[in-house]
Amino acid sequence: MTKATTLEKSPTSIMKSLKALLPLLFLSQTVISNSNSCKCLYGQSCWPSSDAFNALASKLSQPLIRPLPPASPCYSLIPEDAPVCSEAQANAHNGTWLSGVPGAYQNTNFEAYIFPNNTVSACYFNTTLGGTCGQGSVPPLGVDARSPEDIQAAVNFAREHNLKLVVKNTGHDYLGRSAARDAFMIWTHHMKSIDFHDDFAPEGAPDTEKHEAVTLGAGVQWSEAYAAAAAQNKYVVGGISDTGSVGAAGGWILGGGHSAFSGKFGLGVDNVLQFTLVNAKGEHVTANAHTNPTLFWALRGGGGGTFGITTTVTYRTHPIVPLTLALASVNFTSPDAAQRGITEYIHTHVTLSDKQWGGYSFLTNSTLFFGYFAPNVSLPDANATITPLFDVLKEVGEEGILTELIPVESFYALLNLQVPNPAGPQVGNKVELSSRFLSRDTALNRAEETARTLLSLDFVAINYVAGGAVLQVDPESAGLNPAWRNALAQVYIAENWQDGDSADTIHAAQQRLRDNTAILDRISTDSAAYLNEASLHEVDFKKAFWGPHYNRLKKIKNSVDPTGLFVVPRGVGSDDWDEELVCRV
Ligand SMILES: Cc1cc2nc3c(=O)[nH]c(=O)nc-3n(C[C@H](O)[C@H](O)[C@H](O)COP(=O)(O)OP(=O)(O)OC[C@H]3O[C@@H](n4cnc5c(N)ncnc54)[C@H](O)[C@@H]3O)c2cc1C
Ligand SMILES: *[C@@H]1O[C@H](CO)[C@@H](O)[C@H](O)[C@H]1NC(C)=O
Ligand SMILES: *[C@@H]1O[C@H](CO)[C@@H](O)[C@H](O)[C@H]1NC(C)=O
Ligand SMILES: *[C@@H]1O[C@H](CO)[C@@H](O)[C@H](O)[C@H]1NC(C)=O
Ligand SMILES: *[C@@H]1O[C@H](CO)[C@@H](O)[C@H](O)[C@H]1NC(C)=O
Ligand SMILES: *[C@@H]1O[C@H](CO)[C@@H](O)[C@H](O)[C@H]1NC(C)=O
Ligand SMILES: *[C@@H]1O[C@H](CO)[C@@H](O)[C@H](O)[C@H]1NC(C)=O
Ligand SMILES: *[C@@H]1O[C@H](CO)[C@@H](O)[C@H](O)[C@H]1NC(C)=O
Repeated sequence: MTKATTLEKSPTSIMKSLKALLPLLFLSQTVISNSNSCKCLYGQSCWPSSDAFNALASKLSQPLIRPLPPASPCYSLIPEDAPVCSEAQANAHNGTWLSGVPGAYQNTNFEAYIFPNNTVSACYFNTTLGGTCGQGSVPPLGVDARSPEDIQAAVNFAREHNLKLVVKNTGHDYLGRSAARDAFMIWTHHMKSIDFHDDFAPEGAPDTEKHEAVTLGAGVQWSEAYAAAAAQNKYVVGGISDTGSVGAAGGWILGGGHSAFSGKFGLGVDNVLQFTLVNAKGEHVTANAHTNPTLFWALRGGGGGTFGITTTVTYRTHPIVPLTLALASVNFTSPDAAQRGITEYIHTHVTLSDKQWGGYSFLTNSTLFFGYFAPNVSLPDANATITPLFDVLKEVGEEGILTELIPVESFYALLNLQVPNPAGPQVGNKVELSSRFLSRDTALNRAEETARTLLSLDFVAINYVAGGAVLQVDPESAGLNPAWRNALAQVYIAENWQDGDSADTIHAAQQRLRDNTAILDRISTDSAAYLNEASLHEVDFKKAFWGPHYNRLKKIKNSVDPTGLFVVPRGVGSDDWDEELVCRV
């Protein structure tokens, strides 16, 4: 094989060249039978025969896929796999590349599986650790869906055979909701349609209702949606990450969907006009404010992988606006200085919210960094708003303090700006998060104690992605946690670990996350959190992720999916299943 062909190898070709490795990976499958109240897993006697899978394959536009962990080429004995391994290792922190591999997860801990005896099944990029390549929680078989019909065939097959089903788009989920050991996967990544409309009419809407809008296929990623919208001179509210590889029509929107522009234009769920989806019966249906409005309510914030599989999402589009970028990087001169600086910073969020700013920040016990956007705000106006905070930061910061205002032509120009990221690579890590909303009331009335709490934690990130327009929306208009409608920001903490770490080390990290969540909880009165950037270890996930909306969401869930085909960790209805989400409790 020449170097040139090696470089052109796509993630899909990795899958092909690795078929030979499959028997090695599955040597340790145990065969146990399953009872009716449990779902059927790969390796069990109930798992469909190859004839049954062939019958399914004949209905699909693509061959079935056999997802493997992305590092699997590094454990192959086939010489041709060596360069494929190098490519995988070179892209271990590349979100775009990872999203193109059906068996890859952006937070690589979700590829792993910890057995009850504390053995970790995983496949590490770091081969010097000396282990074998385990399939972990990567589903061993799946459908590379290209159309609603592909999804319908796969959903009907999974339901008829009682399979444990996983819906995977980009694999960004922070609770591992797009992974499950021995499950059957529906992969939506290749559903890439993008259609703009000048006069979009939701199905069933009165003739007078028309919108400027864009309809995105389930697999479209934010980088792709933004590029297409920029070419149309339009803006669509979306997620922001270093490679833009978060999905624009999957878990992001179903969980709520925040943006640095949410203060200006609302959350993702405030911008959806219509979904099309395949439901648990295998029907392809529409949900909007006029057609299936109850389902539409639940889909906006009820969470991914729970109510059906979206095939398209239609969003309002907005005009492109110029903005002012405000940057600050501060080393505090002392703990007292940090307390004063962070108190002022928290308090300032109230003003920034009223002016529809948004952005991202990180703080430790002695540093603060932020990059905030003021959409459609001129530099002099932005300066007038931020100067009081900058002045305080200059008093409490060391010599090298950075405070800067930069006029930017549009959001799209911003994407090309190199803004320093003090937090390191965003993906390819082993990480779990926990989060709480920072409410407007807290920022206004309890800034000082909030600052003290945040400074007592090692590392805190604040996604300043609510406030402004988000607070103007009726909290009852969507299934989303109503706590969003009093939130200015979402505050999160993290715990990391490394390739090869033992189950004990991982469990210790998870315990630290629980302990720190109890500390972080002091900033809130309702323990509310954003379900897409949250912890698997909440004391009460129903309250944290949905508050008073949980019971209504669960009723809707039970009516549209009575058999529990779509169940994800800490999702609506997951409380009816065991920890593995395999057997009903
Ligand atoms: C680096 C990074 C940056 C992020 N930035 C943001 C951000 O700016 N704003 C924000 O709000 N969040 C952000 N998130 C969180 C993000 O919203 C979640 O990770 C979300 O789950 C991603 O959805 P996905 O479809 O891309 O990922 P996946 O992991 O593939 O899927 C997530 C969940 O949605 C389900 N799902 C996927 N597709 C469908 C479908 N078509 N129908 C039904 N269910 C489906 C899956 O089953 C799973 O439960 C970020 C996460 C990361 C890792
Ligand atoms: C990340 O992966 C994508 C898709 O394979 C590729 O186009 C891009 O060049 C990669 N980025 C880097 C920095 O290597
Ligand atoms: C732990 O359990 C797994 C799955 O049952 C088994 O394959 C493995 O051999 C066990 N490991 C040890 C050390 O007992
Ligand atoms: C791989 O693991 C070895 C052994 O723990 C460690 O020394 C090395 O730094 C790791 N390499 C990388 C790139 O993480
Ligand atoms: C700040 O955090 C660092 C690293 O976690 C720690 O060593 C230090 O003692 C902390 N300082 C204060 C004043 O709490
Ligand atoms: C941006 O500001 C201009 C001038 O103040 C105003 O006319 C326009 O409506 C604003 N656009 C948006 C989307 O807010
Ligand atoms: C911001 O305002 C302050 C005080 O009014 C002024 O000194 C400063 O020059 C302004 N900065 C910019 C970038 O306009
Ligand atoms: C903060 O301190 C670090 C480490 O001493 C230094 O590298 C950095 O430049 C400082 N940054 C600012 C903004 O003062």
